Amino acid sequence: MSARILDGKSLAAELRAEIAADAAAFRAAHGRAPGLGVILVGDDPASRSYVTSKQKACAAAGIQSREIALPATASQAEILAAVRQLNEDEATDGVLVQLPLPDSTMEADVLAAVDPAKDVDGFHALNIGRLVQGKPALAPCTPCGVLELLRRVGIPLAGANVVVIGRSQIVGRPLSILLSQKGTDATVTLCHTRTRDLPQHTRAADIVIVAAGRPNTLTANMVKPGAVVVDVGVNRVPDASRASGYRLVGDVDFAAVAARASAITPVPGGVGPLTVAMLLRNTLTAARARLTLPS
Ligand code: GUN
Repeated sequence: MSARILDGKSLAAELRAEIAADAAAFRAAHGRAPGLGVILVGDDPASRSYVTSKQKACAAAGIQSREIALPATASQAEILAAVRQLNEDEATDGVLVQLPLPDSTMEADVLAAVDPAKDVDGFHALNIGRLVQGKPALAPCTPCGVLELLRRVGIPLAGANVVVIGRSQIVGRPLSILLSQKGTDATVTLCHTRTRDLPQHTRAADIVIVAAGRPNTLTANMVKPGAVVVDVGVNRVPDASRASGYRLVGDVDFAAVAARASAITPVPGGVGPLTVAMLLRNTLTAARARLTLPS
C-alpha cells in the first residue's frame, strides 16, 4: 500500500481564503480589522520563525497583528505587564504568548493572566474547563487543526479507534478531549512516555496521531495496514547539506510508515499550516464574540 499524502498546505490555503472573506466582512461591519497581539520572549530561532509565519498569515488574511518582543531576561512582572497591555487594548481581539518561555516556571501564571475572551491559544483554565464541559470555547489551535484536516479530507471519526501519542497541554491532552466529544465520537486512547506496550495500542488503531516531540516515535511495525497517520511533530535535525544546517522531520518514520498506511500527513506541510489557519479562525471568533458580549 502506498499512502495518500494529506496535503495540509493546500487545505490551509482554502481555509485561509474563507477566513479572509470573513475578516473583510468584519472590517466592513465594524470599521476595523480583527487584531492579534503576540508576545515573544527571548530569541529562540524556532519560536521567532513560528511567530513570523503567524504574522504573515494574519497580514494575508486581513487581520491586524502587533508584537511585543521582550528579552530572554524579562522578569515575570514585565511579561505580565505586556499581557495586561494587550488585554486592555481595544483593537486587540486575540492575545498569544509564544511558548516555551525562557523560564518555563513562569508559564502557568502568564497563561492565567490572558483575558479568557482573548485567549486564542485556548490555554486558559476557563477555556479548557469549557472544552471539557462540551461548551463553546476557544480551543487550542493544533488539536483543532488536526480535526479540521481529518474532516476536510473525509476521514470518519465517529466510532473510530484513535490513539494519540503525547499528553502535552498544547496538543495531546486537549486533542483527546476534542476527539471524544459528543458529535465527534471517536474512541480515544491517550498514550505517553509511561505507556507499557505502545505498539500494542498503535497496532489496534484506525487512526494514530503522534505528538511526542521525538523523531521515529512511530515506526512501520507499529501501524495496522491501512491506518491513517497524523504527524504533529516538528523536530530540527542536523543536515550539513542544507544552507540552514538542519532539516525538519516529524515524529513518524515517514517513508516506511507511508508504505503501510492508507493516508499520512507530511512534515512540513501537514498539520502545521492548519494550526496557523486555526489561530486566524480563533482570532476572528474572539473578535466577533467581544463585540457581542457585554463589557
Ligand atoms: N509553541 C508551540 N506551539 C504553540 C502554540 O500553539 N501556541 C503558542 N503560544 N506557543 C506554542
